[in-house]
Amino acid sequence: METKLQSQGTLQSRGEPWSEQLAQEIIAEHKALDGATLPILHALQEAFGYVPEAAIPLVAQALNLSRAEVHGVATFYHDFRRQPAGKHVLKLCGAEACQAMGADHLAECAEKKLGVKVGETTGDGQVTLEHIYCLGLCAVAPSGMIDGRIVGRLDEARLDAMQMCIRDSYCLGLCAVAPSGMIDGRIVGRLDEARLDAMLAEART
Ligand code: FES
Repeated sequence: METKLQSQGTLQSRGEPWSEQLAQEIIAEHKALDGATLPILHALQEAFGYVPEAAIPLVAQALNLSRAEVHGVATFYHDFRRQPAGKHVLKLCGAEACQAMGADHLAECAEKKLGVKVGETTGDGQVTLEHIYCLGLCAVAPSGMIDGRIVGRLDEARLDAMQMCIRDSYCLGLCAVAPSGMIDGRIVGRLDEARLDAMLAEART
């Protein structure tokens, strides 16, 4: 049985290049499970970063299903990507509590800023924008996730900071607590004016 995090696609993929041998190994490892289709598809996505089209007939054959049945499962659940993701994956929660706090508007902003629709990857391959459905962070809605790190109280400013951060070659990998910085090798997240003052004072001592 997959965990909630697995079902939400939050595990980081290994991004292996397509290999029929690896796919067959993954299928063999999971095919005895009850309802093996979903665990196999999750494991394939975890390994390759998406569910390769070439894996569908292999899964069908191993589970004695038709290709259409496996294809139907892979396309029904939006957790499964059909193409490799970009370098960074930005997921915005589209479930009820986040919607009530402006998630739809936020998704529109992200689409405009990135120039893609939800489910697509930017032309430079840098960012994939996706929906996710309830991260359990409803108390700090609207919420999202960047490269597996969860972020609450998302607003346009924070979205801007996250997008700038992940597109910037100087990215500290702290997009979830953007804006961020570093002093004497120590990283600092959620920078604001007061925290910046404290860092500057520390730098002067
Ligand atoms: S509805 Fe978005 S985190 Fe729960």
